[in-house]
Amino acid sequence: MTAIGSGGLRPFYSLEINAQAQSLKAQGRDICFLEQGQPAVPPAPKVREAVKAALDGPQGYTHFAGQPELREGLAQYYADRHGVAVAADSIIATMGSSAGFILAFLGSFAPGAKIAVTRPGYPAYLNTLEGMGFRAVEIPLTAESGWRLTAADIEAAHSRERFDGLLFASPANPTGAAVTREGLAAIVAVCAKLGVRLISDEIYHGLDYRGPSVSALEFTRDAIVINSFSKYYCMTGWRIGWMVLPDDLLRRAQMLQQNLFISAPTLSQIAARVALVERDYCEEQKAHYAGNRTLLSAGLSGLGFDVHEGDGAFYAYADVGRFTNDSLSFCKELLEVAGVAATPGIDFDRVSGHRFVRFSYAGSKPTTETALQRMAGFLRR
Ligand SMILES: Cc1ncc(COP(=O)(O)O)c(C=O)c1O
Repeated sequence: MTAIGSGGLRPFYSLEINAQAQSLKAQGRDICFLEQGQPAVPPAPKVREAVKAALDGPQGYTHFAGQPELREGLAQYYADRHGVAVAADSIIATMGSSAGFILAFLGSFAPGAKIAVTRPGYPAYLNTLEGMGFRAVEIPLTAESGWRLTAADIEAAHSRERFDGLLFASPANPTGAAVTREGLAAIVAVCAKLGVRLISDEIYHGLDYRGPSVSALEFTRDAIVINSFSKYYCMTGWRIGWMVLPDDLLRRAQMLQQNLFISAPTLSQIAARVALVERDYCEEQKAHYAGNRTLLSAGLSGLGFDVHEGDGAFYAYADVGRFTNDSLSFCKELLEVAGVAATPGIDFDRVSGHRFVRFSYAGSKPTTETALQRMAGFLRR
């Protein structure tokens, strides 16, 4: 029997650094966790109360697409936040947005299809495509353009190498870059012109610091829209998200959902229903991230990092080229010596990521302050 090679599949370095950080913590070390993009607080109190109350009932599978009440709530969310009518039946509740990507890829593309992603971009895009036998085409972005993807970038990349789909996030990970309303409209239009299926990852919606989040659904019903309760709603570990599908892909995605996952976790769906309307709590968290955003970017600049303040999400993507040309070794040492966990840029960019490091500011203010102090000592050594 021959084992399959890993091919272009790479580790998810953020998770590997987290595993090392957790093991140091278990040995008694005090660690500042800035490597993963996750809020340090639980979901809103009413969310937790609803789950407690549901514990005494049965928690069987739900409707394969998700509890009707949750999908109705999501349809209402699109009406309220984006002014668009989305039928509850076009929505599938998924096990985080991660499961949404699997349904989107398998539901939309033939084996071997090419899907474009940005570089830098969320690591699991490349790795999931690779692991599932699709091919990725990378669209390079630059700090000079605020790391924002444009319709012109897409058109230029497509003329170099044709692709069938485009997956991108706004606000983006790791840069926090968010496209404007006009920018998104142009991206939707160019995808339609080129016959490229757009998958819009809207997981950081709600966490825009420069204005309201804009959904691809405001411009088209041909895009697949993927979203999640992980970030804005502080529910990373609950593994609950959703996707909105165009009519021509809906049935296939539903059948894949039935067979791959049966249904999303029941208690998490109950929690999500309540989370959707507990926005005041989420806005309080957002105000806290906004404070940390300023603190971290000023602190990192003071340390000599070249850092671009993103438009949204909760990351600072810093150029550490002054200190290292090997971001993985730098992050390992930073963790070992200073007890600060951060993610090497090679997670997001296999070409230039060796001189970048991503820091999350989703944690507490004291953690961010301590991390900056420790990094100052680390760099002075
Ligand atoms: C851009 C982006 N998309 C998707 C995910 C996956 O999120 P989840 O599966 O928790 O919904 C993440 C997580 O960090 C992300 O940054």
